[in-house]
Amino acid sequence: MARPHIEPFVELNDDYKAFTLPGFSGGSHYKVLSLDTDCGACTLKVRFDGGYVRKPGMSYSDMELFILNGAMKVGDQTIVEGHYLFVPAGHALPAISVDQGCEALVMYNDSEPSFVESDAHHALALSAGYISVNAYEDAPWAPGNLVTPSVASGCLIKVLRYDVLTEAITFLYCMTPEFMQDNISYHDCAEESYHIWGESWMMQFGNLPTGGYFWRPPYINHGAFRCKLGTIAFGRTDSKLHNYFHFNPWTNPDENKLRAAAHLYRQRPQLYQWTASDGHNHPHGPSDFEHPHYHDDPQVKLIHKHGHTDPHSHSHD
Ligand SMILES: [Fe+2]
Repeated sequence: MARPHIEPFVELNDDYKAFTLPGFSGGSHYKVLSLDTDCGACTLKVRFDGGYVRKPGMSYSDMELFILNGAMKVGDQTIVEGHYLFVPAGHALPAISVDQGCEALVMYNDSEPSFVESDAHHALALSAGYISVNAYEDAPWAPGNLVTPSVASGCLIKVLRYDVLTEAITFLYCMTPEFMQDNISYHDCAEESYHIWGESWMMQFGNLPTGGYFWRPPYINHGAFRCKLGTIAFGRTDSKLHNYFHFNPWTNPDENKLRAAAHLYRQRPQLYQWTASDGHNHPHGPSDFEHPHYHDDPQVKLIHKHGHTDPHSHSHD
C-alpha cells in the first residue's frame, strides 16, 4: 500500500511532536505530512530548536531536505531558507548544528527515518547523487513546458533534482498572480506539494493556502486552477510526470488509468502488448537489458513489491 491520498492538508495549526526515534538526538520536533505505513517512507515538517546538534552520520534511506526558514550548519557550510539537499542512502553528512532554530521539510523516500553515527560513507552509497543547492538563489525559473504537454503559461518551475532512471523530479514551482488553467489533468506518477507561500484554487479540492500540502496518488483528476496573488511551492513526483489533459470532471482514477493505457497502446503498441499480455511471458521482475542485474537493486525490488496492486497482480517470488 503506497501513501494514501491526502488533499488538502494545512499543517500550520497542528502541533509539533517530539522527535524521539532511536538513533536521533533530542531537540527536534515533527509533523507528519504523509506516510507509507508499509515501509515507513514519509514527508515530515521538522522544527530544529536553537542548540540542536547531530553528529556525523548516514541514513538507510534516500533523504531530501528543504529549509523553509532559519539556518542550519552542515559541516562548514551554513544553509539557509531555500536550500535543498538530496542525500543518497548511506551518504554520511558531516555534523549538523542549529544556532537559533529552523524549520524544514524532511523526506525519507525508502523507509522510516533512520540515523547511524558515522564519519564515512557506507560502501554501497551512491554518493555521486548528492545535491546541495539553494533553490532561491542558485537556479533560474524555467517555463512550465519542461513538462509535456505544457501547463498554462504563468506556472514556472526550477528543477532541483531529476532521477535519470525513474524521471522523478523534485522542483520549486510558482504560479504568477492571476494564473489560470481551464483544463483537468492527471498523471501516471504520484505528485506532492507544499505551499511555501501563497494560495491557489483547484476545482476538486478548493483553496490551498500557505502551509497547505497534498500527496496525490496517480490518476486523480485535478484542475481547473486559479491563483489570485501568486504562489511559490515545493513539489515532487515519484516517476515521469506526463500531463493527461481533458475536460470531463466525472472520470474516476480507474477510468483515467485505462485512458492512459490506451494512450500507451496507440503510441507504443509493442511495449503495451508485452506488458499487458496475460501469460507470464516476461522475465522475473522489470527487465533492464542495459543492466541485467538491475532487479537486485533494493530500490527496484521495493518498487516491484509495491507495484502489483491492480486486479491482474501476480507474484514473481
Ligand atoms: Fe499535477
